[in-house]
Amino acid sequence: MPAQPAVAWIGDSATGHLQLIDQTLLPVEYLELKLQTVETVWEAIKSLRVRGAPAIGVAAGYGVVVGAQSARAGTRPELDARLNQVIDYLATSRPTAVNLFWALERMRGVAQAAKDLTSAQLVDRLLVEARAIEDEDREMCAAIGRHGLPLLRDCSGVLTHCNTGGLATAGDGTALAVIFAAARERPTLQVYADETRPLLQGARLTAWELMQRRVPVKLICDSMAGWVMKEKRVQAVIVGADRIAANGDSANKIGTYSLSVLAKAHNIPFYVAAPSSTFDLSIETGEEIPIEQRASTEITNAFGRQTAPDGCDTYNPAFDVAPAANITALITEQGLIQPVTKQQIAAVLKASR
Ligand code: MRU
Repeated sequence: MPAQPAVAWIGDSATGHLQLIDQTLLPVEYLELKLQTVETVWEAIKSLRVRGAPAIGVAAGYGVVVGAQSARAGTRPELDARLNQVIDYLATSRPTAVNLFWALERMRGVAQAAKDLTSAQLVDRLLVEARAIEDEDREMCAAIGRHGLPLLRDCSGVLTHCNTGGLATAGDGTALAVIFAAARERPTLQVYADETRPLLQGARLTAWELMQRRVPVKLICDSMAGWVMKEKRVQAVIVGADRIAANGDSANKIGTYSLSVLAKAHNIPFYVAAPSSTFDLSIETGEEIPIEQRASTEITNAFGRQTAPDGCDTYNPAFDVAPAANITALITEQGLIQPVTKQQIAAVLKASR
């Protein structure tokens, strides 16, 4: 676990700031960023200094407070106009993780509901809400760990992809929270972590987190996952999600779709762990999930040097969608969703809506 949470608010609503661990530098360098403008918050989300769907949501909540500070001394109409501008701007940072939009609309809703507050009072209130988003996410991580734990009880090995731990959330994580819970019970549990090309969140962040917590981890290249399954080294695959459609189709880091197909082919359970803030019940299927396309240099200039010929064309989708039919169960803070159907999702999440 990092010495500090991945995302934190330091100070009061008038002069405080958003603090982040710059995840682009890990594991080589540990640097805490002090963000005091909405432009730097946008840039931090866009360039993955803060990343992972729940952490992006938490950062966005605090980003709204940062953006509101400059209008704190102004009139309410001035602050309201500023808030709309800030929220719309932060919403352009990344398209796939629905937690970003969920958190921003929650902050907008607070402002709209609190018409009688002065500007200074509203900025105070917005900080309370942003802190609530963080605190609730921490609790959701703990509940996901508890609900997922029985699923890994019979496993000697488990495979995961990307980073879904303390760096990606306000708490212990989603998929990694389940792994941490299982490893507490059975310290010999062997984790296989995909390196997660092109930005190596698995190698740089997941291996780092697991090693910090002394959970046995073997790092593998993404292309090795199928062979690891064939060799029966893992009895489950568990990943997080960035957006889950009403039917259970789950968008997650590129490579997740392939893992879901491989797991099915090897008759290995494939689990997706995510809080209710990652569900987008306004869309029916994964077809409607916007997939972020990222710069070709992430592929052509990997590992800190040129890794493709000059002028080489690329295709670089940052996410893909695991179809509900390939998912054994969804693990949420409300409990397990199994089978993964629209009806079951609606039934389990109803309590939290
Ligand atoms: O591009 P990233 O690093 O933000 O992608 C993160 C993932 O895909 C995670 O698996 C997902 O957000 C779940 S994090 C608990």
